[in-house]
Amino acid sequence: MNGGRRIAVGVTGASGAIYAARTIAALLEQGCHLELVFSDYGKRLLLDELGPDARVERLADLLGTRYGPGISNGSFVIHSNKDLGATLASGSHRCESMVIVPCSMKTLAGVALGLSRSLIERAADVMLKEKRRLVLVPRETPMSLPALRHQVAAAEAGAMILPAMPAFYQKPQTIDDLADFIAGKILNALGFEQQLFPAWKGE
Ligand SMILES: Cc1cc2nc3c(=O)[nH]c(=O)nc-3n(C[C@H](O)[C@H](O)[C@H](O)COP(=O)(O)O)c2cc1C
Repeated sequence: MNGGRRIAVGVTGASGAIYAARTIAALLEQGCHLELVFSDYGKRLLLDELGPDARVERLADLLGTRYGPGISNGSFVIHSNKDLGATLASGSHRCESMVIVPCSMKTLAGVALGLSRSLIERAADVMLKEKRRLVLVPRETPMSLPALRHQVAAAEAGAMILPAMPAFYQKPQTIDDLADFIAGKILNALGFEQQLFPAWKGE
């Protein structure tokens, strides 16, 4: 258990809402306190991809139904993406790390260029300026040259680029297995031990 760790999760409008749901659930199972921010298109993709019950206002019900009671090990608050006065917007707020999953090319650009137009972008900028862990999970294919350059710029600024690229060596059987793989990688990047997918044993 990594009880009590305070972590920010931004959810933007790239495809892959299941990655967001699985990551949030897994961090809650670890006993974290999460500060969640959904962009407008992040909310839309939750509905489009996870169904009509996947409303942010009913997030605990959605996660409990999909992933079970372990999510009540942790807690979360949801901030408005428009609220640039939220605690997350300040470096003095002790939120230790952040993941943006999935991360749209638009938000990637905003983070890479330090635009801070929304709370997600501002909180990411805070992570970079305070030298805290920032994990970006971009999803787009193919990628434009600006998108590639923005990933380099974000990596140079200190972010970890963790593309939503599930592997197949662990022999996934379901879509949930693919989401578990990406969520497991994110948890590893944030310093957690996790059992969401079997470790490669070199065979
Ligand atoms: C159904 C749908 C799927 C999308 N998939 C992606 C995607 O995979 N990657 C991406 O960068 N943008 C994708 N977009 C476009 C973004 O949602 C759009 O650029 C939006 O402005 C992103 O804003 P946000 O970063 O504030 O969420 C998608 C949009 C829709 C409606």
